[in-house]
Amino acid sequence: MSEQGAVSANDRAWQGATQVVRAGLPPKAAGTPYLPGPVFAAPYHAPGDPAQSPYTYGRFHNPSWTHYEAALAALEGGPCLLFPSGMAATAALLATMVPPGGTLLMPQECYYTTRVIASQPFDGAWFASQGIRVIMAPTAGDGLRRALDEAGPGGVSLLWLESPTNPGLDVCDIAALAARAHALGALVAVDNTTATPLLQQPLALGADFCVVSDTKAMTGHADLVLGHVAARHPQHVESLRLWRTRMGVIPGPMEAWLAHRSLGTLHVRLMQQCRSAMQVAQFLAAHDRVRGVRYPGLPHDPSYAIAATQMAAFGGVVSFELESADAVARFFAQSQLVYEATSFGGLHTSAERRARWGGDVVSEGFVRLSVGLEDVQDLLADLAAALR
Ligand SMILES: Cc1ncc(COP(=O)(O)O)c(C=O)c1O
Repeated sequence: MSEQGAVSANDRAWQGATQVVRAGLPPKAAGTPYLPGPVFAAPYHAPGDPAQSPYTYGRFHNPSWTHYEAALAALEGGPCLLFPSGMAATAALLATMVPPGGTLLMPQECYYTTRVIASQPFDGAWFASQGIRVIMAPTAGDGLRRALDEAGPGGVSLLWLESPTNPGLDVCDIAALAARAHALGALVAVDNTTATPLLQQPLALGADFCVVSDTKAMTGHADLVLGHVAARHPQHVESLRLWRTRMGVIPGPMEAWLAHRSLGTLHVRLMQQCRSAMQVAQFLAAHDRVRGVRYPGLPHDPSYAIAATQMAAFGGVVSFELESADAVARFFAQSQLVYEATSFGGLHTSAERRARWGGDVVSEGFVRLSVGLEDVQDLLADLAAALR
């Protein structure tokens, strides 16, 4: 990798387990750490022509971003830009890729805040003020494809996908939808937060963009907020970079460094979470107090057929329903291992009753459970006690 973070041939050729450990690290140099510490700088020494300085000003670039972005680029299969949160990454993409007067087609049950910024008038009503039309359709089934066909050639500027969705865990056929969208002239973005690039590769499946909240499994320690966009086309990367630089939506060097440090364990964390989540999903599906278990890895799950073709494993999130909000409160009161918290993907098992926020169309007893790294037998025993 060069100082500017170009991805080397090795970075991309390695298996995922090797990539997360090695990608993005600078060349070996005696007396230096594997991953240099976070670089805190506003201006850098930059004499004469600024084009001759690798770094000039902290809003434009930072070596800690460069290293982590290079690692992400190796994982994603396309150049990456880091943002201070998943929503900052999402907003940058929507703002730069849906032109004034354009049309955004998105899932009706994707992550709540993404739907809010796209469709609900809030302070300034940015999308509405740009004359942008937003169409929504369900992720499962063929609703998104039909909406594309109804809009016709040139009718959709950007198709936004999220698969598996948070929190319902519906999936869509990314390759088929991307091919149809491209045939009709639309760009395609996939929010890959629940899967991560280790489990699902949106760019390889045909998407133009992959968006991830690195706040979740990517970093996994529940201690930072960050996001990234990977893009297929260099001109799109430059538009996004310009947005980040000019709008000043920049990540902190400490977060970038912490994320890169945490990336090394992503493969072992995620694979263990997938194995445990499968056992937890099977346990919950067989429990007589539990209804509506969703996990894309259960063969009877509506998501299974497509997830099995486009995901390497099925993730660490399981959702299920108890009979009421009170039943969920009792569940949390009885559990010793399940933290009641929003977010997912971390090494501590956590869960939340999603209806408490009011943004998702779910029952009062719907629970999104994020399976952590505790011993799975301890976890199953704790769940059994909490449901008793
Ligand atoms: C699927 C999905 N996308 C995007 C986001 C936004 O990420 P962040 O909270 O890092 O802004 C979230 C956060 O929960 C999410 O679940």
